[in-house]
Amino acid sequence: MVGIVSYGIYIPRWRIKVEEIAKVWSQDPERYKTNLLVDEKSVPSIDEQQLIDPIVIQLFTEYCNIIPDETVLEIGPGIGNLTEFLLEKARYLICIENNPKYIPVLHERFKNSSKLKIIQHDALKAYLPIHDRLVSNLPYKITEAVFQRTLRLKFKTATFIVPERFSKTLLAKQSEQDYSKLSWLSQLFYNTTQHENVSPKAYLPETRIQTTIITLKPKKDLTEVEKTLKELVRQGDKYTKNALREALIKSEICSTKKKARKYINDLNIKQRTLQSRVSRLSLQDLQTIEEKITG
Ligand SMILES: C[S@@+](CC[C@H](N)C(=O)[O-])C[C@H]1O[C@@H](n2cnc3c(N)ncnc32)[C@H](O)[C@@H]1O
Repeated sequence: MVGIVSYGIYIPRWRIKVEEIAKVWSQDPERYKTNLLVDEKSVPSIDEQQLIDPIVIQLFTEYCNIIPDETVLEIGPGIGNLTEFLLEKARYLICIENNPKYIPVLHERFKNSSKLKIIQHDALKAYLPIHDRLVSNLPYKITEAVFQRTLRLKFKTATFIVPERFSKTLLAKQSEQDYSKLSWLSQLFYNTTQHENVSPKAYLPETRIQTTIITLKPKKDLTEVEKTLKELVRQGDKYTKNALREALIKSEICSTKKKARKYINDLNIKQRTLQSRVSRLSLQDLQTIEEKITG
């Protein structure tokens, strides 16, 4: 049965005082108040804070390390403040923005650019075109999911702005409290550099948490064991037993399915582990598999 539970109105939760807006533009707050006829305005949610400090935008762009013949993929361009700087460096720039309200803004702002493609889609679900550099001032809500998605992508580097806490987890050592499955994954796949923190004042509205710029660079020259683990975790939806068999073949530890089956049998991994989906494996499960393959 469908029924009306209640009537209501939506009041935007995030608000900014007119004085704050005036401060950013170095204007007189009283004049702003008189002109706008309001004391405060609603602002985007915490996932839509726009970078407004040109020095930070410039720095971020430099950390992306784009060379002129490269294709760049930007997740969540918003109103395009980063996009403008990235466009100057890239041969071609593809932007994926989920929120429809930014699409006309982007089209208008970059109407004279022939090297920009704007796609309205959820970056977690969209097909992501081939690119050399992945960049984003990541929305907090999807930071970890985007990171997980990168494990199946190919790029030279990914440069992101993320919560500082997230960066600490990626970089945590095994002996540290922050060490988790995320740390294990990131250290298997990437060399991660934490460049520098971004001041909350660099955003409109200001952020409430500390954010930081990081670059993920895929590791090269992996050992056979590392290649196997990488191939294993890339098959998140599969059962571990099947995924491990595929991974052992891809990393050339085993040459046939039959040999891979015997190899897995001899490892003596718990049935519970082999029968769970790869994405459900705990840090301890993964470390056990790693130890057993290393021998
Ligand atoms: C923190 S803002 C960054 C905006 C702009 N790039 C900047 O740095 O000023 C994050 C942006 O990601 C967009 N976004 C949120 N979820 C998304 C998703 N699933 N796929 C694509 N874009 C998303 C938001 O609409 C917003 O524009």
